[in-house]
Amino acid sequence: MDIIAHRGASHAAPENTLSAFNRAWQEGADGIEGDFYLTKDERIVCIHDRNTKKLAQQNLDVTQSTLAELKQLDVGSWKNKRFSGERIPTLEEVLATIPPGGKIFIEIKDGERIVSHLKQVLEKAPVRPEQVRIIAFSLEVLRACKAQLPGIQSSWLVDKKYLDRETLPGVLHTAKAGNVKGIGLQEGDHIDAVLVKSIHDAGIELHTWTENSGKAARRYRALGLKSVTTNKPGYIRGELK
Ligand code: G3P
Ligand code: CA
Repeated sequence: MDIIAHRGASHAAPENTLSAFNRAWQEGADGIEGDFYLTKDERIVCIHDRNTKKLAQQNLDVTQSTLAELKQLDVGSWKNKRFSGERIPTLEEVLATIPPGGKIFIEIKDGERIVSHLKQVLEKAPVRPEQVRIIAFSLEVLRACKAQLPGIQSSWLVDKKYLDRETLPGVLHTAKAGNVKGIGLQEGDHIDAVLVKSIHDAGIELHTWTENSGKAARRYRALGLKSVTTNKPGYIRGELK
């Protein structure tokens, strides 16, 4: 089971920054996860929210701002003074942190308009297609990715309130129709042997986010999950030893 660092090692360092991603690799993560939008001048940047209110002194709308405007913001100080001066990274900068064989889960928070730009960046990136997984809550976005980036696998993110025994057949049908390799499901006790078997029987991988408990991670591993996404990759690595 792969350990994927959620927004980087975001317990220890400010989320979705190069510090968080580099820390994730130092902690022994198999992969990193980050959230991405397209800026006004068509660059792909790594930030969870559509605006910068939570992370910076100034509140900018990410999709209505240029990269240069966004790069002025300090997105590290909110976490700790020692991270002051940390900048919003571009996708290219995040990809450049990946060591040989390291994986990246690219979560598209933006709409379909980002996909052609993603294709351009990935074509020049120092990573092989099998190191990359595109993830999104939007099936429309995943469909656009499948059409433009057929060599890259995708996982559909499903909020736990939409998946139970009753809704499962419909969710699996939609996932199969969307041609996704995996489902990313929110963590919790609802992930049990029956649920996992149904998903696996449909030929779909199961991933989960965001789990910071060692006991739960061991349970997911025993159930055969493909990855666990966590804010504490080093801690989970130790708990799985
Ligand atoms: O890995 C999926 C997870 O990151 C989705 O939730 O809100 O943390 O982006 P969120
Ligand atoms: Ca995310």
